[in-house]
Amino acid sequence: MILAVTLNAAVDVTYHLDQVHRHGSNRVHEVAQRAGGKGINVARVLTALGHDTVITGLAGGASGEAVRTDLAASGLRDELMAIEGQTRRTIAVVEDQDGDTTMYLEPGPAITLAEWSRFLARYEELLSDAAAVVLSGSLPLGLPQNAYGLLVALATSRRVPAILDADGDALRAGLSAGPALVKPNAHELATATATVDPLAGAQALRAAGAHAVVASLGPGGLLATTPEGSWQARPPGKARGNPTGAGDSVVAALAAGLVEATSWPERLTHAVALSAATVLAPLAGSFDPADYHRLLPLVRVESLNPTSPQGESCPS
Ligand SMILES: Nc1ncnc2c1ncn2[C@@H]1O[C@H](COP(=O)(O)OP(=O)(O)OP(=O)(O)O)[C@@H](O)[C@H]1O
Ligand SMILES: [Mg+2]
Repeated sequence: MILAVTLNAAVDVTYHLDQVHRHGSNRVHEVAQRAGGKGINVARVLTALGHDTVITGLAGGASGEAVRTDLAASGLRDELMAIEGQTRRTIAVVEDQDGDTTMYLEPGPAITLAEWSRFLARYEELLSDAAAVVLSGSLPLGLPQNAYGLLVALATSRRVPAILDADGDALRAGLSAGPALVKPNAHELATATATVDPLAGAQALRAAGAHAVVASLGPGGLLATTPEGSWQARPPGKARGNPTGAGDSVVAALAAGLVEATSWPERLTHAVALSAATVLAPLAGSFDPADYHRLLPLVRVESLNPTSPQGESCPS
């Protein structure tokens, strides 16, 4: 199975109303709620692709229960660990008149050291059955800054490849432990490396410890730097829709490709088609398989290796 870790799970609440009146009362005409957090999105996509996936992380309080109820209703395997604090909520206020969205993000619970050590024990148990582990998203308060470094090191010491999708200090702390793959977006890459050239940035993250780096460049697709070579993969055009969670679909496709041991050009092709299909779908963590399969033959992969111009025929 693939283990998907979400340390800062959330209940994602969406309010639909015509238009927000500041300093007034606003009647919400539709409310939607579901379990969120980046690792949970990754697990939804992997499960839809037919991969046995287990969700772990931390959840507490009534909102933690709401997360678990939704995971069960979605048929997802839930190994979240209970904590004292309340799982955070994110509130998206969507104005149907013009489609504008305003987000309110709660800080989430503070985790105690005792809870963190209990989680580490649970994580080690789950690793024994895992073919790969995905570590996604922000860290809740109270965790040591090198939390991802520790989770990557525990996985690597058991020969479980770790994929890390994090930002800022959490990303930096994870790098030195040698993750199999990191997946920054363009902004995260530029912030972590102080360069706006994605190839130079990706190479800098490899030099800092990541075995492979796949940078996601929004509608520009993906740029991969790996021990086997470097490639750029592009969608056929810019898809119109909701880009939130497109990066989580990239991570899901790359995790699937890693456990299936497909070639890099093939992995990148699937990641670009799946993430574009996710943009076309209304909710993060969902996609229409018909869009995914229609887009697959339209993805273009180009090798950036000076010695190997035939991108698609490169060995993995
Ligand atoms: N408008 C779009 N049209 C086609 N493909 C897109 C579009 N936006 C994103 N993608 C695809 O999704 C991938 C991930 O997008 P992006 O770089 O925005 O990730 P992200 O910022 O990590 O997203 P998130 O963290 O919200 O999941 C891109 O590399 C690209 O392949
Ligand atoms: Mg992202």
